[in-house]
Amino acid sequence: MTLIEFDTLKLGIEEIDTEHWEMFNILDVVLEKVRHNDYDGVNNALDTMLHDFTNHADREILIMQNMNFPFIGTHIVAHSILLAMLEREIKNALRSDYQNLTDGVESILIDHILQYDVLYAEYAKHIAPQLESQ
Ligand SMILES: [Fe+2]
Ligand SMILES: [Fe+2]
Repeated sequence: MTLIEFDTLKLGIEEIDTEHWEMFNILDVVLEKVRHNDYDGVNNALDTMLHDFTNHADREILIMQNMNFPFIGTHIVAHSILLAMLEREIKNALRSDYQNLTDGVESILIDHILQYDVLYAEYAKHIAPQLESQ
């Protein structure tokens, strides 16, 4: 994914945008390792991605808790489903091609950002400040 493509996925919360960008970047690392037949490197990069995603998900939930976002439960469930989908993609990739894996992971992440992350980001920018000032 290029920075220009990523611009359309930016939520306007810097630390979150940075973490999203890093997750997409790891997918490029995976393909780079595949090109060099470095499958230990592939596995390490995939482990890093899952680890980073788990930390990222925790950070998002904390942000939501801090501003009393009303749909935290839904978002927690969405993260669990997303993690299960990522793990399934990775397991399948051991038997198929890695371009397919990174495309699949990319679209899972994009869907989550556009369906779920935008909601708390909009809430953080527009609703939470209003509630605080009341
Ligand atoms: Fe999320
Ligand atoms: Fe996110």
